[in-house]
Amino acid sequence: MKICCIGAGYVGGPTMAMIAHKCAGHTVTVVDINQDRIDAWNSDLLPIYEPGLDEIVQSARGKNLFFSTDIDNSIREADMIFMSVNTPTKTFGVGAGRAADLRYVEKCARKIAEVCDGDKIVVEKSTLPVRTAESIKRILESNAEGRKFQILSNPEFLAEGTAIEDLQEPDRVLIGGDQTPEGKAAIQKLVDVYAEWVPRDRILTTNLWSSELSKLTANAFLAQRISSINAISALCEATEANVDEVAHAIGTDSRIGPKFLKSSVGFGGSCFQKDILNLVYLCEHFGLPEVATYWNSVIEMNDYQKHRFSGHVLSAMFNTVSDKQIAVLGFAFKKDTNDTRESPAIYVCKDLLEEQANLTIYDPKVPESKIRQDLGLSDDDDSITVCSDAYEATKDAHAVLVLTEWDEFKALDFKKIYDSMQLPAFLFDGRNILDLDALRDIGFEARGIGKG
Ligand code: UDX
Ligand code: UDX
Repeated sequence: MKICCIGAGYVGGPTMAMIAHKCAGHTVTVVDINQDRIDAWNSDLLPIYEPGLDEIVQSARGKNLFFSTDIDNSIREADMIFMSVNTPTKTFGVGAGRAADLRYVEKCARKIAEVCDGDKIVVEKSTLPVRTAESIKRILESNAEGRKFQILSNPEFLAEGTAIEDLQEPDRVLIGGDQTPEGKAAIQKLVDVYAEWVPRDRILTTNLWSSELSKLTANAFLAQRISSINAISALCEATEANVDEVAHAIGTDSRIGPKFLKSSVGFGGSCFQKDILNLVYLCEHFGLPEVATYWNSVIEMNDYQKHRFSGHVLSAMFNTVSDKQIAVLGFAFKKDTNDTRESPAIYVCKDLLEEQANLTIYDPKVPESKIRQDLGLSDDDDSITVCSDAYEATKDAHAVLVLTEWDEFKALDFKKIYDSMQLPAFLFDGRNILDLDALRDIGFEARGIGKG
């Protein structure tokens, strides 16, 4: 088969690289409107950082994996077209701040209708509100002129930083489609692609709407676990409890399970907030305000947690950080990615800049230009300095903040850092990755999350 994927982002790029790597018999072309991004995919420095991705891309690129901006031809030649374009939260008009902005998805559908000259299977890879497939189908069918289109929903469950592992051995692959004979035949074609490496019993097939809703629900449940444990972290701080101990104790109950119970400065990433907002909007649309309020509280708790953290920094440092140097370690929304979308670091930094702090920021993978763009600062704004390592960032600082759980932060020489800082030397571990007792022995005024 010839496969085309529109959107060479964090989802489209790695997913298509894995399909090409595992399925030598299929040719995969990933297209994007962004020429720079495509050039980077064709170079030695890929546009996204993801452990193990380089090897997978190198094994297939130029053989059965291609990156191109020739969108029309790639669509025309393909038997199966994945849509993996971004679906940001709408910033204007009806549903602003909550509904998904589907303009790119609709543009893709119209482009497919315009350039195709034969039958196609169109696969939604982007996370979409329930019943989007219906809109895509209408756009395609009203322009069909005898051609036949089948729409499938195949949501992606990979997490950034572990994308290659997640793609290699997914818990499940979900494929939704029409329950007609033609729909089932299309589902089978996509099942056959994944069955090249995923055990058949892990490939689930459902109707279209169940598949779309499962993606939103999965992310809402995952985010809910973090907001739940973060809510408890506030209570732990008010008592003598320790949130890591509480999380461990409840996680050993097999009905609860140990994963996704790590209390933190808050969750970030391109999906959780966007998908819950989407769910909330859908619930309101369908006249279910109580359900909408229930899920919205997961986001409210996350906002509370991010601002609570900056509030702690301020109150511990004698209620003023004005003109103080604060070292920020980590800017990505989690470790092992260069992605900063909705990163809690952005919110914490903005709160502290508002208080007129000077920030020295270091992240192993996020470039200075991205940090400045996320904070809305020009190149010559000297309220932040982006450093090339953690020691440079912490030198002369009044406080150190750990905002991403990069492994290298655990291996830092904190005695050396302490000796180079202003006293009292504060340290706030927003990810609970450091040994606070050992830091206190060195002399730090050290605090974590959810530790009374
Ligand atoms: C996207 C969605 O945001 C997410 O909801 C979904 O689950 C997977 O796809 P991601 O891959 O992380 O996630 O987005 P991004 O890295 O922004 O990549 C999207 C790409 O699509 C960009 O490179 C953009 O240039 C491209 N694009 C967008 C097109 O090629 N054509 C368009 O019309 C719009
Ligand atoms: C998420 C889903 O996990 C994935 O299945 C879906 O396809 C896309 O959205 P992603 O956003 O890439 O993936 O990362 P994830 O590992 O889920 O982390 C999201 C945020 O939650 C990060 O900011 C992370 O630091 C935070 N987190 C995660 C916690 O604070 N505590 C935890 O225990 C786990």
